[in-house]
Amino acid sequence: MSLRLGDAAPNFKAQTTIGEIDLYEYLGTGWGILFSHPADYTPVCTTELGKTALLATEFAKRNVKVLAVSVDPLDKHQGWVKDINETQHCDVTFPIIADADRTVANLYDMIHPNASETFTVRSLFIIGPDKKIKLMIIYPASTGRNFFEVLRVIDSLQLTSQYSVATPADWKSGEDVIVGLGVSTEDAIKKFPKGVKVVKPYLRYTPQPNL
Ligand code: BEZ
Repeated sequence: MSLRLGDAAPNFKAQTTIGEIDLYEYLGTGWGILFSHPADYTPVCTTELGKTALLATEFAKRNVKVLAVSVDPLDKHQGWVKDINETQHCDVTFPIIADADRTVANLYDMIHPNASETFTVRSLFIIGPDKKIKLMIIYPASTGRNFFEVLRVIDSLQLTSQYSVATPADWKSGEDVIVGLGVSTEDAIKKFPKGVKVVKPYLRYTPQPNL
């Protein structure tokens, strides 16, 4: 059965480039990103894993642990990491799961047979500290993902998990946010002392509350 937002992220143990990992233990009390790529030694995947490595401090700042997966074996991952580091000028330190038996790919429904019978598609799951799935994106093999967008979503998820707000289209950290629909304007004025701008009764903005 396929996963949906709010479902518990299935736990697993897997061999990775940094040793055996239990997903829940690896994530601890923080946030996680589990993302699949179709195959090692392929160009788009090389750029994706390189970009992820280059953004390591951004993920760490947000208390997010990253975990990549494909159905290639460990020795192949290890050889490929050297190419990623060389060509993308990075240092891949996050684990890459060797999922040759497709345990993780099947648990997370990462093989879409009408796209490819053998390779995982570009699935990405954001997992919250409660081990629930907060976001899923699925891209085809031909399109590399935008990891700044992934960071942007994490900023939104972390903010909206703490405050009764939502974030508008194209929002970036630092910009005004939307007062949650469940909050009356009277309560919003008390909750958000930086001010509430009422555009419509259902469309109210306030400065980002955690800055
Ligand atoms: C790539 O990463 O470039 C790629 C992988 C599998 C199929 C197509 C492209």
